[in-house]
Amino acid sequence: MSFFPTSVLVTGGAGFIGSNYLLHVVRTHPETNFINLDALTYAGNLANLKAIEDAPNYQFVQGSVNDAELVAALFSTHAFDAVVHFAAESHVDRSILDPTAFVSTNVHGTLVLLQAAQQAWKDADYPCRFHHISTDEVFGSLGAQGHFTADTPYAPRSPYAASKAAADHLVRAFGTTYGLPWVMTNTSNNYGPFQFPEKLIPLVIRNAVVGYSIPVYGRGENVRDWLYVQDHVEALDVVLRNAGNHSTWLIGGNQEITNLALVEMLLDAVDTATGKPVGTRRPLIQFVTDRPGHDFRYALDSSPVQNELGWRPKHDLTSGISRTVTWYLENAAWMNDILDGGYRDYYEMQYGSRGMN
Ligand code: NAD
Ligand code: TYD
Repeated sequence: MSFFPTSVLVTGGAGFIGSNYLLHVVRTHPETNFINLDALTYAGNLANLKAIEDAPNYQFVQGSVNDAELVAALFSTHAFDAVVHFAAESHVDRSILDPTAFVSTNVHGTLVLLQAAQQAWKDADYPCRFHHISTDEVFGSLGAQGHFTADTPYAPRSPYAASKAAADHLVRAFGTTYGLPWVMTNTSNNYGPFQFPEKLIPLVIRNAVVGYSIPVYGRGENVRDWLYVQDHVEALDVVLRNAGNHSTWLIGGNQEITNLALVEMLLDAVDTATGKPVGTRRPLIQFVTDRPGHDFRYALDSSPVQNELGWRPKHDLTSGISRTVTWYLENAAWMNDILDGGYRDYYEMQYGSRGMN
């Protein structure tokens, strides 16, 4: 049974994944209206959405998901039949420095949206759906073997992961208690255009271009499964429209690699793209103090979304990294515009330098 939303509240649509999602769906579904509610924190950037800012089926509203009055007013003005909820504090290292905003936005903000949706949809005689965007980090840390599945028990280990896990539980509880129709996606590490350069891949590309050292936590042995963001947003659209109610889908790229191997691959790709002999930038790698509670490995079993909903990633790590490096090199102005004093202050707090050594 397919679902055809007519009016969608997208939260956090000015962030990395949300903006890639809107760039995809606003153009592929001209019959659907998309309202983007985003607080424009340090991670939100309207420049990401330039290509669709004048689209007739797109509108931006600046505000917080914690603002219950605003959220209720948006529901009554726009008669949403779907919510796609990306808005979150999303960076593990920031959650270690101060978890407060993570609980506020990720837990309380999700509750506000659930209550508004529940209130608006409780007597609805039309299909409606709450799509909650979550992460593989709620499942904890894997050893060298095995994969997370939708049935893996939750075992979050960072304040970020704990706040996302709490939000996931609330979503499911609203389904069980009030009958709220929801779908959920838990996704592996994304990369691609418009990612804020506090996350590993854009941070490495940026530091490589300007010749700053590349901080690798511990010995770089931790493993992540990387998913190109455009593949992810295609999967999200498939799940929203085609999955059954109250179902959870794990979406991964099936591209596992250690952090050190990934960083070397990135540095070599920047060398190639800038006409330098491959290997020139590897001496920039600097092993630094490990992240506290650093999850060793994440890996997802994405076979259900592939076999039952027919989604497949179009990019492997080699093609995705090459596209990503090209994008960041061609969009140096986008990067420079967001590297303000706030970024430098964060960098100094996290790495003990302003990125220049
Ligand atoms: P991001 O940090 O790039 O963007 C978050 C967006 O939410 C920003 O635009 C920010 O302004 C907005 N926001 C923050 N607090 C808000 C509030 N109170 N009200 C309204 N808007 C607010 O994050 P991202 O990487 O795009 O992640 C999006 C979602 O996907 C998050 O829920 C995250 O947990 C999840 N996720 C991310 C990854 C990843 O690799 N980036 C992987 C799995 C899941
Ligand atoms: P990150 O992009 O923060 O994503 P997550 O913590 O959600 O997986 O980090 C990806 C991996 O890279 C993670 O194992 C931590 C590591 N890392 C570094 O080694 N150095 C860095 O400067 C950063 C930001 C991350």
